[in-house]
Amino acid sequence: ASTLGAQAAVTGRYFGTAVAANKLSDTTYSTILDREFNMITPENEMKWQTTEPSRGSFNFGPADQIVSHANSHGQRMRGHTLVWHSQLPSWVSAITDANTLRSVMDNHITQEMTHFKGKIYAWDVVNEAFADGSTQHRSSVFQNVLGNGFIEEAFRTARSVDPAAKLCYNDYNIENWSDAKTQGVYSMVRDFKSRGVPIDCVGFQSHFGSGGPPSSFQTTLSNFAALGVDVQLTELDIAQASGTAYANTVRACMNVSRCTGITVWGIRDSDSWRSGDSPLLFDSSGNKKSAYNSVLQALGSG
Ligand code: G3I
Repeated sequence: ASTLGAQAAVTGRYFGTAVAANKLSDTTYSTILDREFNMITPENEMKWQTTEPSRGSFNFGPADQIVSHANSHGQRMRGHTLVWHSQLPSWVSAITDANTLRSVMDNHITQEMTHFKGKIYAWDVVNEAFADGSTQHRSSVFQNVLGNGFIEEAFRTARSVDPAAKLCYNDYNIENWSDAKTQGVYSMVRDFKSRGVPIDCVGFQSHFGSGGPPSSFQTTLSNFAALGVDVQLTELDIAQASGTAYANTVRACMNVSRCTGITVWGIRDSDSWRSGDSPLLFDSSGNKKSAYNSVLQALGSG
């Protein structure tokens, strides 16, 4: 096949990108989006800061724009993200009472998942809850007020709201098998599976330096998959976008049958949160970079 999405679909996988609602009217942008990608993650529009800026007052307008674009172009959606310490409004960070925070968190999950019910293939239920260089959770209002159980609480609530959606844990710096953080997340997933806490997938953000993925990346993906979850590359970008680094990344996924899809974190270099690194597959004018061809070829290797 001659596009990323169609080539990924040959092996039953998807190829997605992060999308910003305010760029959909840019025709260079939307032309590439609709030609190449069959999965969309809203880059910011489903985050708490946007969707519930003050308590009980919900704003789904920007995310609805993206969902409606996806519906009319045959693209599926990943929901990003329900519970995250960042881009969190200050009214949430200020809560100190556990019963209040638990009901605020559960209500946020319930309202947002209900609004998008039936339109989201997979949700990043909890994002980036583990500390770098450690097997433990990071400090956050959720961790500090609710304790370790907040992740389980969020997944159980999510399952009860939309039993058809895949529920994912998503994080960065969990690609190298020997890292403490990887081991911490692995232990959590193993524990969840053994106790029947609902979890269906783990997202590996995959924000890589110029060398690309660690050599253990495929091992990490297959070890997680062996726990009984799907794995996905959810926010891929690679400094300087070397074709070899991209191909190594894609091959690690292709070699793991439960690696069900890859999402790059933006379309053109100019769309990237790290645009100074030119980390994406299209240049700022929307031309395919050489890494694009490396990815297309590697997608054929499954
Ligand atoms: O929308 C406002 C705009 O009104 C304002 O004028 C401007 C001035 O700063 O800010 C705009 O908001 C920015 C927003 O992106 C939309 O462009 C925020 O400042 C900026 O902080 C925000 O950055 C996002 C970042 O998450 C926030 O943590 C990036 O776009 C987004 O790519 C990035 O994505 C995260 C994933 O969600 C989780 N994993 C890491 C990844 C990269 O940081």
